Formats: sequence, C-alpha cells, structure tokens
Amino acid sequence: MSLIHCLALCHGVTSCVAINFGAVSETTNCQLLGQRACDGLPLVADAAVDYYDVYDEPQNLIAETQTSFWGDPSCVEEGYCAVQCAAEAAGQSCTVDVSCVHLKPPGAYQCVNSTCHPSSEFWELRPGLVLPRWQLWRMDWHVVTWKRLKSGVCSLDISVKLGVGAKAVIAVGWADSDSRTRLTFDFTIWDINLFYHDANGNRKVLVRGASTSDMVTTDAFSPVKISWCEGLMTIGPDHNPIMISGQASVTQPINFVMGYSYNAPSWMYVDSGVADPWLFEDSGVAEDAVMDIPPATYVYRNITATNNITVKYDCMTGTDCAVALQGDSAAPLVLVICTGCYSNDKSSLIYAGDVEGDYEMFTTGPIVSSTEYNTFTVRYDNGQVTVYRNDATTPMYTANAPYLIQNINIIGIGGCCTRKSVRVARYDPAWRTDTWLTEGRGFSASDSLA
Ligand SMILES: *[C@@H]1O[C@H](CO)[C@@H](O)[C@H](O)[C@H]1NC(C)=O
Ligand SMILES: *[C@@H]1O[C@H](CO)[C@@H](O)[C@H](O)[C@H]1NC(C)=O
Ligand SMILES: *[C@@H]1O[C@H](CO)[C@@H](O)[C@H](O)[C@H]1NC(C)=O
Repeated sequence: MSLIHCLALCHGVTSCVAINFGAVSETTNCQLLGQRACDGLPLVADAAVDYYDVYDEPQNLIAETQTSFWGDPSCVEEGYCAVQCAAEAAGQSCTVDVSCVHLKPPGAYQCVNSTCHPSSEFWELRPGLVLPRWQLWRMDWHVVTWKRLKSGVCSLDISVKLGVGAKAVIAVGWADSDSRTRLTFDFTIWDINLFYHDANGNRKVLVRGASTSDMVTTDAFSPVKISWCEGLMTIGPDHNPIMISGQASVTQPINFVMGYSYNAPSWMYVDSGVADPWLFEDSGVAEDAVMDIPPATYVYRNITATNNITVKYDCMTGTDCAVALQGDSAAPLVLVICTGCYSNDKSSLIYAGDVEGDYEMFTTGPIVSSTEYNTFTVRYDNGQVTVYRNDATTPMYTANAPYLIQNINIIGIGGCCTRKSVRVARYDPAWRTDTWLTEGRGFSASDSLA
C-alpha cells in the first residue's frame, strides 16, 4: 500500500500514534504502532523501513522521520527516554519476538501472549529496567558487598566458587551497614555454620561445623540455595536445599543481603531478587545519577587494569569522601585516598591488606559539606597521588604513595562515617549503574574494612 494509505489506516485506529513504512516483512509494508519511539527505547536502524510519528492535527499529520522522532518532547529528557516512556516498554503489545527487539537490552524481551515479557535470562527489576538474571559478585576479603533484596524475597539461588582457603559469609538483615541484627550463613569447602544476631545484637549459634558434603569447591561454580523464610534458615545444594537448617528469631522484615570472604576472594553468581538500592529507584539510571552511599560503604566497579587512573566526582557528605583503589594480585592491597577525613579536617592515604595504616596525612579541611556538593578530581599516577578540589588549578593535596598499587582493576567511591550523595556519571558515563550492570560487568555497594 501507499504511505498515504498506511497513514489513513493509522488515523482510523485510536491507539495508533506512529507507523513503520517500507519492507516491514515479506508481505507487509505498513506497520501501525501504539507507542512512539524515543531514545532509551532505541530504534533498530533499518534502511528498509521509515519510521513516522503520527499526530492528530491535519497540518501535522506526519512529523518526519530520522531526525525528529527522537524529538517527541513527551518522551525525551536530557537526551534519554523519559521515565514514563521507558515504563511503557514492558507489556508492550507484539506479534512475534522481533517486535520486542527494540526494547533494551537487546534480546531481553520475548513476545508471549501478544505482549513483550522479559525472557527467562533476564529479570525485570522495575518497569523500564531489566538486568541479566544472574549477576556475578566478587566476595572480597577487604570489602563487604551489600545489596538490597526485592520486597518479599526470602530465598536466593546462588552459584559459588570459593577461593583457596576461603570462608564465605552470606548474611541477611533488616537495614544496610548499620544493622547489628543479621542471619548469617558461613561455609568453607568442609563445614557450614548458621547463626544470627538478635535484636539486642547477641549472637546465637544454630549450627556449628556441619559437613558441607562437597556442596562447594574451589574448582568450579556449584549451585546452592539459601533460604530464611519466617526465620527458618536453610542451606544446601540445589538437589538438597534444606540439607542444613536452624530456626532464627526474626522480628523485622529482612531487606538486605551481604557477602564477604575471609582469607581469599571468592565468587558467586546470584539469581534475580537483589540489586543495589538505587536500581530499585529511578535515581541510579538517570543520565546524571546520584548514588546514595550508606555510611562506611563504597560503591565499587571494576575497570580494565591500569596504573594511572583519574576519578572525578561530586560529593555531599558530613565527613570522608574517599576513593579506594585495589590492585589485581593474589593478595591485593587496598589504597584509600581519604579526602575530608578525620571529622572533615584531614586528608591521608590509608592502606588495608598486608600493609595497614595511615600515611601522608595533611590537614586540608573542612573541604566537604553535608549541604552542598564539592567536586574532587583524584589522580593516582604510578604512586603519585594528586587531589584537586572544585575549580582550583593547584592541587589541594599531593603525596607519594609509600606502597605501590599495581594493575588497579577495582575502584570505589565512598568511605567512613556519614551517608553520602555522589554524582560521578556526569563526568564518566561508565559510572551509570544501569550501563555497567546490563553489560554484565558487575559492581557492588560495599563496606570497607580498612
Ligand atoms: C499465555 O496464555 C496461556 C493460555 O491463556 C496461559 O496459560 C499462560 O500462562 C500465558 N502466559 C503468560 C506469560 O501470560
Ligand atoms: C570485571 O570483573 C570480571 C570478573 O573478574 C571480569 O570478567 C571483567 O573482565 C572485569 N573487567 C571489566 C572491565 O569488566
Ligand atoms: C597519566 O594520565 C594523565 C592524564 O590522563 C597523563 O597526563 C599522564 O601523563 C599519565 N602518566 C603517565 C606516566 O603516563
């Protein structure tokens, strides 16, 4: 049919707001669409098809294609798809799988019963954001990984590979890092302990030294299920998930899970149901994401190993806004470049690992504020540390790191004592949390044990 014919068809259907015209399929050249395209619901470039927004006003019947479709003002916000448009993504009507391929990330949605649904390898965290169903976590021995549980989740499927000599600790609780009340599963390749801390912080042991019966190894990932519904703690391999159990007393809803590994790093894949807190909200996926970092924690991401790294970020907090760097070695050192520390008075280098303690301390403060953002540019260039504040052209702080961190592949922002609001994606889009998660790179919001 002709373009005019296709438009007329669209006009006759109340829900039609846009069309594809061209070689849509072997037998079709006109496709009526119930939703307009915009950035964030990306179009798949296809030379054989032209896309048109269709408006009611006769003089505006066609808003031309390639350049203006991004410009549907109701859908674009600072170059990205407005939340209300993104929220329409799931549940969009479809006829075959290919009509869902334009939803992000590619391959995440399938056409089921005429509606686009996330496919089995993806988890719909909230409307408009799906993540790979299995997320890789590094269980570290210097940092504690914290994630929020989706409301109502009381069991997790995980797949664990322990480091040599490691003891993995997975604990659930009802708040982030401040919580004293936790249900804890810990295990080595030989034995399992179950215990919990009650509301007064008293530790109650439920199971001590039970045999793992080869549940986990250091050679390969093994599927394990842990559960704590109504306080009934169970752990076991997927074919015997209640191999070990114990009844804890739980008085509050459990909403966080934490991972840690003594002696050596361990790894696990975690099935859907947990994510960093801001991914449950819109703030973490905005172009200019604000990360809300709990006291004494860091947001970490891993990067291609380097000895020369610059991190620029805005920070609003009462005290301590640090950058942590971890090297890629069997026994990695962590260097914390601590800015506005010691009650917002000093800056220093703090090590954790085989070397511990504070070095190169200078009085610099007060340089952070709990009511406004300050911008810091922190550079580590082969042991030479330089920190700039706001627009100053001379560094606020320079130091020679006494111990080198080689092949830095994990960087974190956060630190001690007070809650922080941090903006960093505005300087480096790689910090947009949805980007690095959907690319499967993994990241964590973590405690520092430094
Ligand atoms: C699709 O429809 C069938 C039959 O009505 C139903 O059994 C099935 O649960 C539906 N699937 C989804 C994902 O809604
Ligand atoms: C991040 O960590 C994972 C797991 O070690 C690794 O596969 C990946 O290559 C790392 N680096 C980047 C840049 O994603
Ligand atoms: C480190 O990076 C900075 C900026 O990217 C550059 O100016 C500097 O020369 C680099 N240092 C080395 C040793 O390459």
